[in-house]
Amino acid sequence: MAQPLNLTLPEKVPTHVAIIMDGNGRWAISRGLPRMAGHRAGTENLRRVIEACIEFKIRYLTLYAFSTENWGRPQEEVQGLLRILEDVIDRELQQLFDQGVQLRHIGRLDRLTPHLRNKVMQAVELTRTNDRLILNVAFNYGGRDEIVSAIRGMLQDGVKVEDIDEKLVSKYLYTAGVPDPDLIIRTSGELRGSNFLIWQGAYSEWYFTSTYWPDFDKEELRKAIIEYSRRERRFGGVSQNSEGNGINAG
Ligand code: IPE
Ligand code: IPE
Ligand code: MG
Repeated sequence: MAQPLNLTLPEKVPTHVAIIMDGNGRWAISRGLPRMAGHRAGTENLRRVIEACIEFKIRYLTLYAFSTENWGRPQEEVQGLLRILEDVIDRELQQLFDQGVQLRHIGRLDRLTPHLRNKVMQAVELTRTNDRLILNVAFNYGGRDEIVSAIRGMLQDGVKVEDIDEKLVSKYLYTAGVPDPDLIIRTSGELRGSNFLIWQGAYSEWYFTSTYWPDFDKEELRKAIIEYSRRERRFGGVSQNSEGNGINAG
């Protein structure tokens, strides 16, 4: 029987939420606006989702902002997205700092201009000791690229074959030290992972919503967390509720 939704506070809050912020383009097109207007609206939405995460006491938030595949978009859009990254740092950094947010970057900075690269590194450095919310921004991030870079790192360090295990690989990923995401949310109705956290998300719970990213607000996040709190994570084991009869274990 369906339980009534608790719309005040989520019961079991995930430690790490990761979001594929998708649907900016369609949000704009559906309003007769250019795609960039959707990206701008998506940026505005960051503030309220970050605030909601702080309120819900989520410790880690990872946001997929630009994938290694997104370079294939029209030049104008790519340039616009790079500009948005710069604007967000310029406009939001102080407030993020004041809120106790620690900013981190996952992905590769080498394709960015030295100016933008420095800006990102300075933002990371400035917020290094904050610990209310760890915010990983995945910009020029790809899960396969991350694994290739981990393999390179291990070879460069002369790691011995017999020392390679899952724990060690995790240490060579961009997310070293960050717990795996408990919940991965994708907005906009697409049902795929698009090269996001393919290693770390091996046992994440997924939540899909048809809401476009600019409209994904605190209530939407609350709904996702409530659904998460009702799931049983088994990690390959058997159901806690099966009482040994095997009926409900599937
Ligand atoms: C997500 O929105 C933002 C980025 C990928 C940078 P999209 O731009 O993918 O929006 P849709 O999927 O075209 O609607
Ligand atoms: C995934 O969205 C990347 C980001 C949200 C940054 P895309 O819109 O690029 O993914 P596909 O092309 O639909 O798989
Ligand atoms: Mg998209």
